[in-house]
Amino acid sequence: MSIIQVEGLKYKYPDTDQLALDDISFEVKQGEFIGLIGRNTAGKSTLCFALSGLVPHFFNGGYGGKVFVNGLEVRQHEVGDIAAHVGLVFENPFSQMTASKYTVFEEIAFGLENMGVERNEMITRMDESLDLLDITSIKDKHPFDLSGGQMQRVAIASVIAMKPKILILDEPTSQLDPQGSEEVFKVVENLTKEGITIIMAEHKIDKLAEYADKVALIDHGKLIDFDTPAKVFSRDDLPDYGITAPTATRIGKALGIKDSKTDLFPVTIKAISREIGDKL
Ligand SMILES: Nc1ncnc2c1ncn2[C@@H]1O[C@H](COP(=O)(O)OP(=O)(O)O)[C@@H](O)[C@H]1O
Ligand SMILES: [Mg+2]
Repeated sequence: MSIIQVEGLKYKYPDTDQLALDDISFEVKQGEFIGLIGRNTAGKSTLCFALSGLVPHFFNGGYGGKVFVNGLEVRQHEVGDIAAHVGLVFENPFSQMTASKYTVFEEIAFGLENMGVERNEMITRMDESLDLLDITSIKDKHPFDLSGGQMQRVAIASVIAMKPKILILDEPTSQLDPQGSEEVFKVVENLTKEGITIIMAEHKIDKLAEYADKVALIDHGKLIDFDTPAKVFSRDDLPDYGITAPTATRIGKALGIKDSKTDLFPVTIKAISREIGDKL
C-alpha cells in the first residue's frame, strides 16, 4: 500500500475565488523522495499543508477529495494526531528554533519533552537523530551559533526525533548557501535509506535531478506531471511552467547526447560525464 494517497484533492483558501489545489491525485511509496516543483504561487506550499493537515484544519476554506497519510485520512484527524506521522520543515531554519534553549541537544529534546516521551527512549531517539543528521559534534553548541546548513539540520533533527514516517520540507534550502544546501540534500537522502518518505518543495532543479526518485510538477494548483526526473525534466514545455531544465539536460539537448540508461536526455552531470566519457 502507498504511504501517501491523494485522490482528487481540491482546495480553496477562505475568501478567494481560485482553487489553490485543483483536482490533484498521486501516490507515493514508502521511502521515496519526491521533489515538488513549480513557479511561485503554483501551490507547492499549499500541497505541503494539505499533506500535514494544516489544510484544511488550520486554514479552513473549501475542500474536496481525499488525502491519506500512513493510512490516516487527513480530514478526519486533528493536526496533532497527524504530526505523529508527518513532520513538516519550513524554509527558514531560524524561525523554527525555540529561541529558548542553550544547546542543540536541548533544542531537539524540547519536542520530545512536550510529547512526554520517557527518558531512556528520549536519549535513544536523540542519539539516533543527531547521528542521522550528522550533528553529534555540534550538540553542545548554541543553536544560534550555527551555520544555516547546520541550523536547518537541527530543525530536521527536531522533527525526525518524533519518528514521523513522512517528512515534508518546504523549500528547506532557499535560505542556504551551496554548501548548506548540499548538507541538507545529503542528510535527507540518508533519511530515505531509513525508510522515511520525503516530499520536498525545491527550486534547486540540479539537486532534485540528482536526489529525487520522482518529481511532481505543479502549476496553477494542477498536477501537470508526476514521474521520474528523467521524464519530467526532458519535457520541452518546462519554461511554460517557470522551470529551467537541469544544467545536464540543457547540455545534453544542445549536444544531442542522450543517457543510454533511460534513452532520454541526461539529468545529472554524472550521467552526462558517463556518456561523454564513453565516446572518448
Ligand atoms: N493564506 C492564504 N490565503 C489565501 N490565499 C493563499 C494563502 N496562501 C497561499 N494562497 C494562494 O494559494 C496559491 C498557492 O500558493 P502557494 O501554495 O503558497 O504556492 P507556492 O508554494 O507554490 O509558491 C497562490 O495563488 C496563493 O496566492
Ligand atoms: Mg511556497
